[in-house]
Amino acid sequence: MIDPKIKKIAILTGGGDCPGLNAVIRAITKTAILKHNLEVIGYRFGYRGLYQNDFIKLDAASVSGIQHIGGTILYSSNKDNLFDYEVVENGKKVRKDMSHVAIKNMKKEGVDVLIVIGGDGTLTSARDFARKGVKVIGVPKTIDNDLDYTEYTFGFMTAIDIATEAIDRLHTTAESHHRIMILEVMGRNAGWIALHSGIAGTADVILIPEIPYDINKIAQKFKDREKRGKLFSIVVIAEGAKATGGEAIVKHIVKDSPDPIRLGGVGFKLAMDLEPIVTEHEIRTTVLGHIQRGGSPSTFDRILSTRYGVAAVEMIEENRFGNMVCLQNEKMTHVHLENIVGRQKLVDPQGELVKIARNVGISFGD
Ligand code: F6P
Repeated sequence: MIDPKIKKIAILTGGGDCPGLNAVIRAITKTAILKHNLEVIGYRFGYRGLYQNDFIKLDAASVSGIQHIGGTILYSSNKDNLFDYEVVENGKKVRKDMSHVAIKNMKKEGVDVLIVIGGDGTLTSARDFARKGVKVIGVPKTIDNDLDYTEYTFGFMTAIDIATEAIDRLHTTAESHHRIMILEVMGRNAGWIALHSGIAGTADVILIPEIPYDINKIAQKFKDREKRGKLFSIVVIAEGAKATGGEAIVKHIVKDSPDPIRLGGVGFKLAMDLEPIVTEHEIRTTVLGHIQRGGSPSTFDRILSTRYGVAAVEMIEENRFGNMVCLQNEKMTHVHLENIVGRQKLVDPQGELVKIARNVGISFGD
């Protein structure tokens, strides 16, 4: 049973959107209302809504029919760190800790528990609110699947389904023209999307941030394939992949974001670097971009999101504030927010998936 003093909870979604967010919002709201008779509100645009006291009431009707819809009905922002927030003082822009405004707003609305659904940056702020005595529960969110302590985040399976379909489609056109087709997928620091979709889509080369590549080794792979009569090749490259001794390719800087660097363009760079060496084939690059983050969540992700949402409310029942729900050994469990900040789950270059990929002849360009 939930402590009878807890009557109202609030939800917010922060960071980049991700298929399954609405399913989590629905699961939290339904469980909180149907099982515990709690009141639920949702802050709009992540922490900005908390600062501006911009919220909507969530009830059975407002979360009805949203499970299969991508994005977030609460909207999101990846710019609003209230512990280092831009405000105007005496006509000048200054950055300050404005978290007290958010706490005051929650008190005013009678919010007893805040459920924060987000990635690294959003969860870091969740930890900071917990340090200030707010009853916070975290729910991990990233299509990159690179948050530590959790096996799978919702949205990842949808992203790899989309990327795999893209590889399948590139395959037929690559074969028709005897071309080298490069597909750039997301993954700033971790190559999970490239690795999983590359194996599923039978890519010939997978390039990930964890394994620096050598352009000549990639060209050699194409030559080896040619000797076997395979006159086309498919390369899947994570946006954060780099050549040995090289740097990741920065596409733009989002100045007012706590994490301002946006990567992109490594697929085009790879094509440019390969062109003088691989003269016998034309090379084309496709950047999958936000297509892999948009649209309906897969069946797996709808179920996983529901599990995360229900588990978040169970954490309130168990008084586990300051924790994040996570999936370990296929079971929903929890980890303290203090432990997760700044930790990333990277692909192990010696791990099973890399090994099986190598066993079936996939090159990592190393
Ligand atoms: O963390 C997820 C992610 O999709 C990254 O892989 C990507 O670099 C980033 O978000 C892009 O975010 P946005 O374009 O929304 O700023």
